[in-house]
Amino acid sequence: MDEQPVIYMNGDYVPLSEANISILDQGFLLGDGVFDVVSAWKGVIYKLDAHIERFSLSLQAAMLNTSMSHDDWRAAIIETMRRNSFRDATIRFIVTRGVSTKVVADPRDFEPTIIIWPAPYIFLADENKRAQGIRLFISHLRAFTPDTLDPRYKCLDRLHFQLAKIEALDAGCDDVIWLSRDGHVAEGPASNLFMAKDGKVYTPGEGVLRGITRQAFIEIAAEAGIECIEANLTPFDLYSADELFTCSTAGGALAVREITGRKMPGAVPGPITQELDRRYWEKRESGADGTPID
Ligand SMILES: Cc1ncc(COP(=O)(O)O)c(C=O)c1O
Repeated sequence: MDEQPVIYMNGDYVPLSEANISILDQGFLLGDGVFDVVSAWKGVIYKLDAHIERFSLSLQAAMLNTSMSHDDWRAAIIETMRRNSFRDATIRFIVTRGVSTKVVADPRDFEPTIIIWPAPYIFLADENKRAQGIRLFISHLRAFTPDTLDPRYKCLDRLHFQLAKIEALDAGCDDVIWLSRDGHVAEGPASNLFMAKDGKVYTPGEGVLRGITRQAFIEIAAEAGIECIEANLTPFDLYSADELFTCSTAGGALAVREITGRKMPGAVPGPITQELDRRYWEKRESGADGTPID
């Protein structure tokens, strides 16, 4: 049998088969919890502090109080990775409201469940699709609005993401994005979106998760001398773009070759996508913003 990953669960390090949560956990029952996903490549965790900071904001906004400080999270994530053998990893950390034996429980009265779950590194698409680009679908489902559930919460409540993804797969596409309530391009279930037009790049500025990779690409574009504009974009903008790519912790940039039936006009991946992604991986491999595991 393959070696099992070691998981951090409420202060203990246990093999995956023993990392079980109760069916009374509010994360399971209600999707009541928040999480974050950071990655390690060649033994170096990328932008760990930025991920923990984003996670802490979700925890604070969701009133999920753990006794763990930023440094405690750092130490626990590194220690969990040290107890695992793989060094290219996708590391998910999760806090749920926790367990109550009462059917109708007071949501203020819980001990949070705390999990750090590392797995071997995951790319959002296979090698073929990474080389040739993906087919992207625009769902009829809309993003949550800030007066329902602000998209900056990186929360477990993701049924609508799953439905949008199923809709896209059923339509023969590889991934999905959705629009905001007012029709502006938002994001996908695990990635943000960029488009290139006339030598500039654009990305939605509102109504999206503040992706750590999104921010990395904004900075990389500046370093590459490519103007990056945070803007309200519509599907028309995407249909008339020169290049499109999604980006995430799970692989950096992923070129789009077709969007709801419209083929991208030029080579895929396009020159700007290639240049930014090359710089992203070069940065990662240089150890910049990196935390070595060993
Ligand atoms: C809704 C959503 N948007 C965007 C992203 C990309 O964020 P990051 O670059 O931090 O991986 C994610 C990551 O899982 C996500 O869940």
